[in-house]
Amino acid sequence: MCGIVGYLGEKDTKGILLAGLKELEYRGYDSAGIAVLQDHDFQSYKAIGKLVNLEEKTKEFVTDSFAAGIGHTRWATHGKPTELNAHPHLGESSYVVHNGIIENYAELKKELVAEGVTFLSQTDTEVIVHQFEKNLKSAASAFEAFTKTVSQLEGAYAILLVTKSEDKTIFFAKQGSPMLVGINAENEKYFASSDTPLIGQCTDVNYFEDGDYGYVTKDEIAIFDATGTKKEPIFQKLSTNKLSAQKDGYRFFMEKEIYEQSTVISDTLLGRLTETEVVFDELDTNLFENINEIKLCACGTSYHSALTASYMFERHSHIKTSVEVASELRYRDPILTPDTLFVVISQSGETADTLETLKMAKKAGLKTLVICNVDNSSMVRLADASILTRAGVEKGVASTKAFATQVTIFWMLSLYLAQKRETLAADEITKQIQLLREVPASVQVSDTLHERVKRLSKRYLHGHGFFFIGRDVFFPLALEGALKLKEISYLHAEGYPSGEMKHGPIALADPELFTIALLPQHLLYEKSKSNVEELSARDATVCAISPLVFDKADDYIPTQNHADYMLEFFEMMVVVQLLSLEISVRLGNDVDMPRNLAKSVTVE
Ligand code: G6P
Repeated sequence: MCGIVGYLGEKDTKGILLAGLKELEYRGYDSAGIAVLQDHDFQSYKAIGKLVNLEEKTKEFVTDSFAAGIGHTRWATHGKPTELNAHPHLGESSYVVHNGIIENYAELKKELVAEGVTFLSQTDTEVIVHQFEKNLKSAASAFEAFTKTVSQLEGAYAILLVTKSEDKTIFFAKQGSPMLVGINAENEKYFASSDTPLIGQCTDVNYFEDGDYGYVTKDEIAIFDATGTKKEPIFQKLSTNKLSAQKDGYRFFMEKEIYEQSTVISDTLLGRLTETEVVFDELDTNLFENINEIKLCACGTSYHSALTASYMFERHSHIKTSVEVASELRYRDPILTPDTLFVVISQSGETADTLETLKMAKKAGLKTLVICNVDNSSMVRLADASILTRAGVEKGVASTKAFATQVTIFWMLSLYLAQKRETLAADEITKQIQLLREVPASVQVSDTLHERVKRLSKRYLHGHGFFFIGRDVFFPLALEGALKLKEISYLHAEGYPSGEMKHGPIALADPELFTIALLPQHLLYEKSKSNVEELSARDATVCAISPLVFDKADDYIPTQNHADYMLEFFEMMVVVQLLSLEISVRLGNDVDMPRNLAKSVTVE
């Protein structure tokens, strides 16, 4: 993953790079660094930890004339998060930043070391700059050396390189990791891993394709494709609407995003529901033609929304549905038949494993659809069709509103498909549309609920583990609740189907085992209740989340009396999100940037 930025122009290069990195910090915050080539002289700074450390280090550094600068914020893949491993990496007189993984770095490094090159870091990235400088010795130009270097790299990368041998130029290459270049009327050039740092700075942007490489100077943007053929940039207007992700008085972005769910779900529904029908204008009417099966594929939280979707597709649309973890699907030999619609789900649209499965499915000739939160992301550009979730910028690394909008989309899509396949009666569809309209109200956070969760959270800070349990769609919700807690509290938590506890996990039951039981009144209530009773009988500490009072629980979080289990689903989703948040706050953790994680994982 990691985030990279670049700038070529006359303004405050340092300030521009740091501001860009700030926008990308969610992609990784193990370390950050910049290198600026100004007046034929390099200045480079690196700092471990969050960007503030780099800001502090560069306080005295002034950039006030034409410069070529590159910057990086790191999520460690090869080598520990130390300053030596932080990017940019230096050769003799060049610096490189890289996002991705160079798969053949070990063999290249071996050769270079044998030739006497000294490596300072443990990263795969450093090999790029040394290989470039080796090639430079026998090349007619820096560009020739860069071209050769790119041809020698295997793996995934977005690379920016600056060198004294061509000091008013930034070299770039893209393969499998996102990168774009932006321009403006002031003849400045900006690079970044996503468009957010460029909003407000650039008017037009070109998204690089896999295989693209080239260079940028004050007056030229030279792009070559994988075959070495020069191509014209394809500029698109960049939105000017900086979706400013301020905390608006909330303590954390995650908290703000939990509270925002009502509004963003309303946005997700907007224009997609009539009284009697679900409408997706963005879908070709023939997308589902000759489709007999749906395969859903994703990672992390998006995988949990996919699991939820599988219940809805089979129940409402009577279509065979399977769900895959992207990193697994990639390396087995799946049977992908052309009557299957391949659906990827991704908040960012950039997750490497998910993106690769999309490519696999396309290659196998399947029709593809992406459910995504980021327009213009790699997946949106690649898939045959896309539905945007409209959750807005999600800053908290622990995903909340993205999940809520994904499930909303899936509920709608299952009805849309039910219409087409005539698997639900018209009045049932009308009824469910009315229920969908109630979702925004069901996720509104009341002071009473938040207070209750806050108070209860103090009892759940220790113990030897958590089980979140539920049945049917409440099982994926249990998985999601456990993932939220793990991500930000660092406590061990598992999601389990309620009925499966007796087949092993119940052996762990004792007062130090915390069970968070999802007990909706409108779906398998009695069955779920018996499973929870089995646990309380073995003295596990039980916290029941239910609209019905449950006297066998140690703690009880009451939810509202909704008309349908899906509305209960959405309210319970808020409860488990708040519970994780409050436990994490009490433990003093960094809620928005939990350790070892990153928002967008663009490495496999
Ligand atoms: C990372 C994030 C998770 C997210 C997962 C998939 O691990 O920390 O919150 O669910 O990636 O991301 P995507 O953008 O594809 O939904």
